[in-house]
Amino acid sequence: MKNRILARELPEKLGETVVVAGWLHRLRDMAKFGFAIVRDRSGLVQVVLTAEQLEQLKGLQVETVLKVTGEVVKKQSKDPNAKEVEIQATLLEILSPVKDVVPVEVNKDDVDVQLDTLLDNRVVTLRHPKQRAIFRVQAALVHGFRQFMEGQGFTEIFFPVLAGAASEGGAEFFRVEYYGREATLTQSAQLYKQITMGVYEGVYGVSYSFRAEKFATSRHLTEFNQLEFEVGFVESMEDVMAYGESATRAMLTAVEAECQPELELLGVTLPPLGERFPRITLQEALEIYKEGTGIDETSEPDLSPSAEKWLSTVWAPREHGTGFLFITHYPETKRPFYVALDPEDPSLTLSFDLIGFGSEIVSGGMRINRYDEQIARIKAKGLKPEEFEDYLMMHKYGIPPEGGWGMGLQRLTQNVLGLANIKEATIFPRDVQRLRP
Ligand code: 4AD
Repeated sequence: MKNRILARELPEKLGETVVVAGWLHRLRDMAKFGFAIVRDRSGLVQVVLTAEQLEQLKGLQVETVLKVTGEVVKKQSKDPNAKEVEIQATLLEILSPVKDVVPVEVNKDDVDVQLDTLLDNRVVTLRHPKQRAIFRVQAALVHGFRQFMEGQGFTEIFFPVLAGAASEGGAEFFRVEYYGREATLTQSAQLYKQITMGVYEGVYGVSYSFRAEKFATSRHLTEFNQLEFEVGFVESMEDVMAYGESATRAMLTAVEAECQPELELLGVTLPPLGERFPRITLQEALEIYKEGTGIDETSEPDLSPSAEKWLSTVWAPREHGTGFLFITHYPETKRPFYVALDPEDPSLTLSFDLIGFGSEIVSGGMRINRYDEQIARIKAKGLKPEEFEDYLMMHKYGIPPEGGWGMGLQRLTQNVLGLANIKEATIFPRDVQRLRP
């Protein structure tokens, strides 16, 4: 729209005649005049309306889309230093009249409804400034990720979603009817990002991952995004983790730089980063958890959700001044066929998770890069090498020692903002029950 000014820019336009446009957020009718609070993508602005302009809004509801021309004046305030401005409207145009009452109010401090109601009415509830803020922060996280990876000189790859075989194993994949054949929706871009190691040496991308999770939990979706990363010619798993740590730092720094108003609105203090994310083995983590809480899970092959939470929100902040920690060396039984075994103890893998302020946000490790080894591992996992023909072609024709990781975008957003349910960090979430809107 020509000459349009955003709400946030108005203080610089004091005394000028400007055009603003947005949604009618609230209306106060004082009979002889009125106040319309107009919301645009940058914030709210108060518009002073004449009796005639109030008349134009008769019968219309909040969310009506407006265009206002008027003069920017100082808001009436007893405080002489008050910087806030408002607009004295000279022309009011209705761009899209709304006659129905909104199903959920989005003009109060909070959207005070149950999660299901919030999501059922997403089309409207997303307009609430706090809901909007969540996905601005998410966008900044991705922006920080891209900036970091570009800075390393890596190549962005766009991975397919339709595939023949499942990469992460297990039964958690969706089958799709594909011209009389069966296809699957990718559980992760794993196999594809590895294949590119024969070419680019360092790649990244934002992928779609699908998991036919059986239950809806506060941490699981059936469709989510992964920030994918893979790098070749690495010498150890430490190299791969170091990229994970640097990327996470860059992403949180981007949020800090780009999203101050959003963080303020949400009342969020970002998790502490500290000097260095600690790296501990799974066995050490289970011992620390036992010592710190008295809960003995040392014979478990994985961390429980409460152990992840305690380690990343109590132990790591206390001992290392950070909300992030790497857990390494998961048992081979718990990791997919492509993960390298630890030469010092082949019952373990050269794998890691990054726990970020509440739960696992990243999973990664070193991969098997030799052909014979990969075939043997596929067989040991009870899988058929002939089903991985394309994938094995890369091993056959040479890929460097390599590793990588995948970061769950919605999980990260949830933890960074301290949201109770991952669906709050997902703009249009899908779970066992939900496929709309
Ligand atoms: O641990 P996952 O399954 O690992 C992979 O997919 C590997 N290919 C990654 C790699 O490069 N080695 O998933 C990676 C991340 C998890 O750490 C978690 O943050 C997120 O994706 N995630 C989910 N997020 C939402 N809903 C689900 N059902 C998720 N499953 C995993």
